Amino acid sequence: MGKLDGRVVLITGAARGQGEQEARLFAAEGAKVVLADVLDDQGEALAKELGEEAAAYVHLDVSQEDGWTAAVAVAKGAFGRIDGLVNNAGILRFNELVSTPLEEFQQVLQVNQVGVFLGIKTVAPEIEAAGGGTIVNTASYAGLTGMTYIGAYAASKHAIVGLTRVAALELAAKRIRVNAVCPGAVDTPMSNPEGTDPGALDQLYRKLVPLGRVGRPDEVARLALFLSCEDSSYITGQPFVIDGGWLAGVGVL
Ligand SMILES: NC(=O)c1ccc[n+]([C@@H]2O[C@H](COP(=O)([O-])OP(=O)(O)OC[C@H]3O[C@@H](n4cnc5c(N)ncnc54)[C@H](O)[C@@H]3O)[C@@H](O)[C@H]2O)c1
Repeated sequence: MGKLDGRVVLITGAARGQGEQEARLFAAEGAKVVLADVLDDQGEALAKELGEEAAAYVHLDVSQEDGWTAAVAVAKGAFGRIDGLVNNAGILRFNELVSTPLEEFQQVLQVNQVGVFLGIKTVAPEIEAAGGGTIVNTASYAGLTGMTYIGAYAASKHAIVGLTRVAALELAAKRIRVNAVCPGAVDTPMSNPEGTDPGALDQLYRKLVPLGRVGRPDEVARLALFLSCEDSSYITGQPFVIDGGWLAGVGVL
């Protein structure tokens, strides 16, 4: 018995990183997964590897409302319904606030924040029609605290925590639970674009993170699984920090 037997879950940004690990784990737990991304070659290859009984790929730019409508149609065509959503797609840009071009700030908000809004808006009615289910939004450590040079990103991730709370309130009566994951530093192409050995990243994070290492994307996937299955049946509207203790406080030695 898998924890997601019989479920159909759409995962955005599923071609690589945390979304890829979520797709692999959810499929292993019995879900049909709809992988949505803009990296078509990687997304299609992953869907093929998981097999057409378990996975389908759809091109989706989460910042575009039309794309969401089309993605829902593909998901329903492949598996009949949708009863789970993981809003995982996101982008990161580094810039000092006073140097950030307006276009860059708006682009980050459009993908990270508007993308999550459109996902909830488009998919929640489908989940309701399926009899209820779950939504997991991917916020961040930076959705709960500040960090220099990621102003647009932090603003977008704080917004996702707010959207999560409001969606949980509005959707509870429709039998839809909505929670957020808030990862700290996780070894994916976003945080480690050069593919540096995780051991080297650990050096960087040893002083910052009490557990002394960078996180792994499969660890975030396990939290997303918990929030998508019956193990979390009485939990909604909450941000869950997964950061090796980074947010716990400041070490003095
Ligand atoms: N890696 C970290 O340290 C970390 C920490 C906190 C939060 N997060 C968040 O976790 C999520 C996953 O990030 P990751 O670390 O796996 O990064 P990643 O860059 O490896 O993966 C992000 C995925 O989202 C896709 N994507 C980007 N823009 C898109 C768009 N407009 N439409 C559809 N797909 C799009 C990318 O193609 C990619 O496959 C993001 O929301 C990110 O902000 C990551």
